[in-house]
Amino acid sequence: MEFQKKVLCIGAGYVGGPTMAVIASKCPEVKVVVADINARRIADWQSADLPIYEPGLDAVVKTAIGRNLFFTTDVSSAIAEADIIFVSVNTPTKTFGIGAGKASDLQYWEKTARQIRECSHSDKIVVEKSTLPVRTAEAMERILNANAEHVHFDVLSNPEFLAEGTAIQDLLNPDRVLIGGPETDRGRAAVEEVAALYAHWVPRERILTTNVWSSELSKLTANAFLAQRISSINSIAALCEETGANVEEVAHAIGMDKRIGPKFLHASIGFGGSCFQKDILNLVYLCEHFGLPEVAAYWEQVVSMNAHQRTRFVSNMIAKMFNTIVGKRIALFGFAFKADTGDTRETPALYVTRELVEERAHVVVTDPKALENARRDLADLPQDLVTYEPDPYKAAEGAHAIAIMTEWRQYKELDYRRIYASMEKPAFLFDGRNILDVDALYDIGFSVYPIGRPGKSRL
Ligand code: UDX
Ligand code: UDX
Repeated sequence: MEFQKKVLCIGAGYVGGPTMAVIASKCPEVKVVVADINARRIADWQSADLPIYEPGLDAVVKTAIGRNLFFTTDVSSAIAEADIIFVSVNTPTKTFGIGAGKASDLQYWEKTARQIRECSHSDKIVVEKSTLPVRTAEAMERILNANAEHVHFDVLSNPEFLAEGTAIQDLLNPDRVLIGGPETDRGRAAVEEVAALYAHWVPRERILTTNVWSSELSKLTANAFLAQRISSINSIAALCEETGANVEEVAHAIGMDKRIGPKFLHASIGFGGSCFQKDILNLVYLCEHFGLPEVAAYWEQVVSMNAHQRTRFVSNMIAKMFNTIVGKRIALFGFAFKADTGDTRETPALYVTRELVEERAHVVVTDPKALENARRDLADLPQDLVTYEPDPYKAAEGAHAIAIMTEWRQYKELDYRRIYASMEKPAFLFDGRNILDVDALYDIGFSVYPIGRPGKSRL
């Protein structure tokens, strides 16, 4: 079949994979290729066992794979034949040199840009999907158009706002699609080409077009605002625990104010995921770079509060368990950074496990989707102090305490009587996600400590 248009995405990760699967399923006349240097990832995308867990993803991939959706490791050939190239490679926080710990590591992005330049024999539209520092597109445009005599590149920004666990729903029904492009005739035409893809299923009024820098900065700002709400409610949770107020009642009361709104006000052990911390640190670095130290400090506090929340949770566990957890078995229910994903990047459970092992506790990790990632993330810890157990009932056997790390639905529905019977006494339950019924568990015999709400202690 002759395809009308050829789209390529470089980077078959949590963003690139689902986004391209949805574009392919909605645009049957467009050939969509997803390329990645990681051969195992590509093989997994082509198999029945996809490399990421995302509700609804299997069905979408199945509709389009082999029809107009293809996965490959041959990045160069895919570049040569593409009209539009999305770049969705990872941009982690730098761990070295200038800006270490804050700035984005752009080496993969730049390497990809150079490869695009080398393999292109016709004009291309290059679209940033990765979250990048403001003005990266401009730098990329310069790299791409240097030495390119017969070929022209238009660089656009099209940030992805999907959240993991709801990626398919978010992609199918986005609040908005944002496309930033140069304010030139060529630029506007390129933006229109990308908008036309989304217009297959997104109403036109939800497709926003801006200049490139506004688009890049909007992504950082959206994540910073979302994370700020979580840190704000978590800071109030700490105060609730001291005063006897209930953070859920406070969140409900403030959320009914239409100006505030009810979402993203769940007090928790803290936010995780690949984006929030990275993007805020990126914003902080940008502000410092542009001579705005007060603005930088303002946003950095959102990240500090998040770290404080995790540490506060572990300190509370230790304090409640008679100030020592040496040799005690502690079951962590959940390791993923949120429910409905196997992703563990920046998950609060990672920090909690490390702090507990530091105190010489024996940690048993259970999770329905993230155990393989947990094993990899914790490989450097003494293996006699960390065990992995898919069955939560077995994980809790002989434990002194359970700590809920992820709000998996199944953890609300467990038989806590059976669990209580198998545990050491006194049995502690620390609910880092506020999903459990404190009174019911107390009646079974547990001492229960949620976040920002009064707990119930049997001691
Ligand atoms: C990534 C970024 O982390 C995020 O900032 C951005 O907004 C979107 O892209 P994600 O899809 O979750 O998010 O990352 P990841 O799952 O790590 O996928 C990136 C993929 O790019 C990996 O499969 C990696 O193998 C691939 N890659 C990386 C390349 O194909 N080429 C490279 O040079 C580097
Ligand atoms: C986020 C943004 O929502 C998304 O738009 C962007 O594209 C990528 O970053 P994601 O990290 O996948 O998505 O998940 P999100 O649902 O935003 O949750 C992030 C973290 O915040 C999770 O650890 C979650 O448990 C936590 N969270 C969320 C809270 O602690 N309380 C809340 O009220 C909401």
